[in-house]
Amino acid sequence: PTVAVLAGGLSHEREVSLRSGRRLSVALREEGLTVREWDTDSGLLDRLKAEKPDAAVVALHGGEGENGSVQTVLEMLGVPFVGTSSDGCRRAWDKPIAKALAAEAGFTTPEWVSLPHSTFRELGARQVLDAMVERLGLPLILKPDQGGSALGAQVVRDAADLPAAMVGCFAYGDTVLAERLVDGVEVSVTVVERDGGPEALPAVEIVPEGGVYDYTARYTAGLTDFFAPARLTEDTAAAVGELAVGAHTLLGLRDISRTDAMITADGTVHFLEVNSSPGLTETSTVPMALEAAGTSLGGVFADLVQRAVA
Ligand code: DAL
Ligand code: MG
Repeated sequence: PTVAVLAGGLSHEREVSLRSGRRLSVALREEGLTVREWDTDSGLLDRLKAEKPDAAVVALHGGEGENGSVQTVLEMLGVPFVGTSSDGCRRAWDKPIAKALAAEAGFTTPEWVSLPHSTFRELGARQVLDAMVERLGLPLILKPDQGGSALGAQVVRDAADLPAAMVGCFAYGDTVLAERLVDGVEVSVTVVERDGGPEALPAVEIVPEGGVYDYTARYTAGLTDFFAPARLTEDTAAAVGELAVGAHTLLGLRDISRTDAMITADGTVHFLEVNSSPGLTETSTVPMALEAAGTSLGGVFADLVQRAVA
C-alpha cells in the first residue's frame, strides 16, 4: 500500500514530529511499503483528496495532530489511518480529562487542580495561588493542560516562584494543570494492539542526568539514561503494564500509545498522562520499548498499516 506519513505541522512540537516522521518513513520503506512523507499544513484536505493514499500514519505531535483535528479530517474523507480516532485523541490530549478518567477507574494519579485563565480574572491571582498551595502543598508541577514534550512544564518549590511559572505556562495555552509533585522512578510504557488486543511492552526507565526530563533532556542524545526494560520488581512491572493497558482501553485509544508514570518509594504507581501520538525519534522511548520486546519500529507499524487497510 501507499502510505502518507503525516509529520511536521504547526504546533510547538513541529521539530520533534519531523524527526519522528523521518525515522518512521525510513523504517516503513525498509519493510517494503511505498511511503510519502508529508509536511502537514493547511493543504492537507486538498492533498488527501488529490493523492488518495491507501492509508495515513499520524506522526504529528501536539496541537492539531494530537487533539483530534487531523484525525477528524481523515475520518471525514474515509482515509484509513494508524493511530487513535478523533474521539480518543481529544480525551488523551487533555491531561485533566485523562487523569479524571484514570482516577475514576481506580488508578492513582497525583492530586491536581485545573486552572483556566479566567479564574485568575474572576478571583484574583493571590487568592487562586494561595488556595492552590493550600490544596496541593509544595513542591508542585505546573503543566499546560494540553501540551507535550514538557514544554511549559515547571517544578515550583517556593511559593514566591509561582506567579512567574504560571505566566510561563499560560504562554502555551488557556488552562494550567497544577499537580502535586511525586518523586520517584519515571517510566514510559508503550502499548501496542496486536491480534490478541492491547499489550504492554517492557517499561522504559528514564533517568535524566540533570534530574529534570525537560525538552532538552528529551531530545539531546546523551543527556538522559534509559533502561529498557526498566529496573523494576516483577510486581511493579506488572502494575505499570496494567496501568498502561488500562489507560489505553479506558480512554478509547487505538493501535499504539504510551503511558507515562512515576513509581514512588512505597511502590505506588502514579499515572501522569497518556500519549496518543508518542515520539518516535532517536531518543524517544517507544522505539526502545519495541526493541526491548524483540520487535522493531518498522515491523510493528507495517503491521498496523495492514490492519488499518484491511
Ligand atoms: N509529545 C512527545 C512527542 C512524546 O510524548 O513523545
Ligand atoms: Mg505527553
